[in-house]
Amino acid sequence: MTIRLNDQVAIVTGAGGGLGRCHALALAARGAKVVVNDLGAEPAEAVAEEIRAAGGEAVSHACSVSDYDAVEAMVSKVMDQWGRVDILVNNAGILRDKTFAKMELDDFTTVLDVHLMGSVNCTKAVWEIMRNQQYGRIVMTTSSSGLFGNFGQSNYGAAKLALVGLMQTLSLEGHKYNIRVNSLAPTAATQMTEGLMPAEVLEKLKPETVSPGVVFLCSEDAPSRTILAAGAGSFETAHITLTKGVYIGDDEDAADQIAAHFAQISDRTGDQVPGMGSAQGQQEISNLIASQQKG
Ligand SMILES: NC(=O)c1ccc[n+]([C@@H]2O[C@H](COP(=O)([O-])OP(=O)(O)OC[C@H]3O[C@@H](n4cnc5c(N)ncnc54)[C@H](O)[C@@H]3O)[C@@H](O)[C@H]2O)c1
Repeated sequence: MTIRLNDQVAIVTGAGGGLGRCHALALAARGAKVVVNDLGAEPAEAVAEEIRAAGGEAVSHACSVSDYDAVEAMVSKVMDQWGRVDILVNNAGILRDKTFAKMELDDFTTVLDVHLMGSVNCTKAVWEIMRNQQYGRIVMTTSSSGLFGNFGQSNYGAAKLALVGLMQTLSLEGHKYNIRVNSLAPTAATQMTEGLMPAEVLEKLKPETVSPGVVFLCSEDAPSRTILAAGAGSFETAHITLTKGVYIGDDEDAADQIAAHFAQISDRTGDQVPGMGSAQGQQEISNLIASQQKG
């Protein structure tokens, strides 16, 4: 076991149970001092106590990630106590599942507030600290529902994919400060997934099997800008890709040309994972120039 996190300080949000608890235990087992955050003081303190009982260092801090002032107060307490924050695992989350037709706008904003703004708040509160330290590892918790969709989860899926968008830019902005930002798409049997799958499947999806992925994403040699999927001991990466495309131009029949060439436009042979957004424009200009040279 070569990954060590000694002398590092980690904040794990929503760590009073489920995946967050397992992440907190796994980071502590590698030597990190862990701040166990959750809404409720009791579950958070129970997990901190579990870490201390196993010989690790942990404190609990109850607050809502959607309350920026409370998050800032948590981070400043951690700085007073331990003087640094190396790792942030944005894990806290809730569900308000309904089909879009039945969903109230409140169900949408509440979910965005916890997943998206909760992660923004916690990241914002540690960003300057990590920049000054020239070191930081941040994990966003995305979801297959955001990456690929899931019936009844338009609010949750939108919030979860927004976190991938946040990761894309923060990993670019954090690069020169050695801040690496990644996303985890877990599958695990927790209170969140209770009843969603048959018991014998849930049995295989122990949250403990996901946490090694978090330890890796929080390690010194972590990649950046990776979407790591994890469940039942399997690990995959997911990608947002760009196909090579076809130059169509802007003749009057351009829309018809798109229809006629759609199979080629969406052909994934030779597609790329762009290093940043500008790669799309560069490819489009290259396609235009290539078509002019041909003509
Ligand atoms: N379990 C899965 O299969 C699965 C799949 C994809 C994504 N996820 C994501 O993984 C994360 C953990 O989920 P889980 O399955 O362990 O669920 P969980 O419900 O067991 O854990 C979520 C924790 O977040 C806490 N929390 C909720 N709102 C909070 C807030 N405002 N501030 C602080 N803490 C708050 C809850 O109290 C709870 O302890 C979530 O972000 C979830 O969306 C889980």
